[in-house]
Amino acid sequence: MNAPKHSAYADTAEEAIAAQDALDGQTMTSEMATEVAMQNTLLTPRFYTTDFAEMDSIDVSPVRKDWDNLIAGMKADPNKGHFKKTDEWEANWEGMDPALKAEFIDFLISSCTAEFSGCVLYKEMKRRGSNTDITTLFQLMARDEARHAGFINDALREAGIRVNLGFLTQQKKYTYFRPKFIYYATYLSEKIGYARYITIFRHLEAHPDKRFHPIFQWFREWCNDEFSHGEAFALLMKTDSKLTESFINKLWIKFFLTAVYSTMWVRDHQRPLFHKALGVDVTWYGQEVFQKTSEISKQVFPFTLDINHRRWRPNLDRMEKASVQIAKAKERSGIIGLVSRLTGMAKAGIAFASILTIPSIPNDVPDSPVMVPSY
Ligand SMILES: [Fe+2]
Ligand SMILES: [Fe+2]
Repeated sequence: MNAPKHSAYADTAEEAIAAQDALDGQTMTSEMATEVAMQNTLLTPRFYTTDFAEMDSIDVSPVRKDWDNLIAGMKADPNKGHFKKTDEWEANWEGMDPALKAEFIDFLISSCTAEFSGCVLYKEMKRRGSNTDITTLFQLMARDEARHAGFINDALREAGIRVNLGFLTQQKKYTYFRPKFIYYATYLSEKIGYARYITIFRHLEAHPDKRFHPIFQWFREWCNDEFSHGEAFALLMKTDSKLTESFINKLWIKFFLTAVYSTMWVRDHQRPLFHKALGVDVTWYGQEVFQKTSEISKQVFPFTLDINHRRWRPNLDRMEKASVQIAKAKERSGIIGLVSRLTGMAKAGIAFASILTIPSIPNDVPDSPVMVPSY
């Protein structure tokens, strides 16, 4: 009998998931990781569903040339076989400080869930669609995300845990988003994912002694996949100018930019040991990632957020403090816990509103959004 191929070589998401499931039969598993991945809070990665018929009806003719180039590049599959351990892989879980290990595992579980969230959504679009342009794109993106999630699970397995991908698909709650919200949110999460991975990769290139786990060595090729996925959503948004130019949609874009940036800020600040081990100042890192993402998003969004505004950082910090208060209050019962939770939520809401009302910086969007990863 042939051994199933590793998820890194899988040509489809289904093959990659099957390969991962086969491995799970052989290793010890942990309910904990899956439980963490199952959480649905404002700060944890969610699974999405949408109006697949509406998405299937997109006509990509207005961006045909750029579209065909992008799809050809993805079909050529330069990263086939990349997401697999090599001789270079030397993980030292035993030598890791337990508190750091806990934060790092949390980071891996949350990254795996986010990768898999993309996979599930893209795979479903591929399954439901009949528009060949759309189904081809989504099948290629689902393939990539399944490889990414599989690779993170490989890393987690060495620490004796894994995220049960099949279970998540069936049991995790799905949030419905209209297609245009999927474009804004997913475009941003792909591009911010690129910016996050490349910023860590470049930092560790300069400070190799801080590379406390081998997975960071894989981030460069990884972020190029995310970059292409973001390009695809940029092109999808380019097929209909209303999506980025109508008054209401501009408000929605601003909302999503603010929500995605502030969520990232709050979550990253909750992993101080992880960032300290990397030698990364988490505040610097946040601003750096926002800067890169904003620069890239000029390809399609008619404005960027003013991340140097005097109200920006203080209110992100307020949201972070409020989220700590809410988390602590959840652990307390009774009226005191409830009051603390509600005041925390009010503080977070006020801080969010304060950021949301910072005037944005207008941008002239180019005719063709196409970009190459340049960081
Ligand atoms: Fe990914
Ligand atoms: Fe992606």
